[in-house]
Amino acid sequence: MAASGEMSIKDLIIGYGALATSISVGGYIIVQALYHLHKARTLRALRAQAEVEIKALREKPRQFTPDDLARYDGKDPRHCLLIAVKGRVLDVHEAGYEFYGPEGPYKHLAGKDGSRALALMSLKAEDATNDLSELSEDQLGVLDDWATKLYDKYPMVGMLQQPHAHAAPASS
Ligand code: HEM
Repeated sequence: MAASGEMSIKDLIIGYGALATSISVGGYIIVQALYHLHKARTLRALRAQAEVEIKALREKPRQFTPDDLARYDGKDPRHCLLIAVKGRVLDVHEAGYEFYGPEGPYKHLAGKDGSRALALMSLKAEDATNDLSELSEDQLGVLDDWATKLYDKYPMVGMLQQPHAHAAPASS
């Protein structure tokens, strides 16, 4: 047993244990703080990139392929949020984010031409295509009403190069 005033080996081990724990907890907190700071800065820089991109698109609309447009579904912070209606690409980045953003009720329309879903008033992802085959006159009328409303509300930033939905099979 150690005399009073002297440190036993047990006291030393407990002391070093406590010190090591404090250092590792402190280190963990610092690493976490640095990580979050870096993440926030990176996200800000990426969002700034999206802002620059959307300004350029508003000034100079361009052609989009479906794959190209798919990058603009609001999930990638480097890109702005776009939808297309009857082939016209619309900038919904600001005024439409709550509708078409990743948490929005109409997120199935983001980054694509979902004219069929508009005609059918459908929230199903599989209806969000530009295939207008077998739609009734009434449904096509519903789509036209949406087009009028949305063309009026959002800036046009391009046209979608429509794939040939009903292309004839290649002749052999
Ligand atoms: C219970 C059913 C629904 C309710 C209560 C509802 C409600 C609303 C409301 C309140 C608005 C905003 C209107 C405005 O800004 O003037 C809106 C807009 C819209 N809704 Fe719905 N909706 C429903 C179903 C649907 C369905 C099934 C679709 C199919 C795609 C749809 C597509 C849209 C679109 C495209 C907009 C326009 C968003 C924009 O301004 O960009 N809604 N809806």
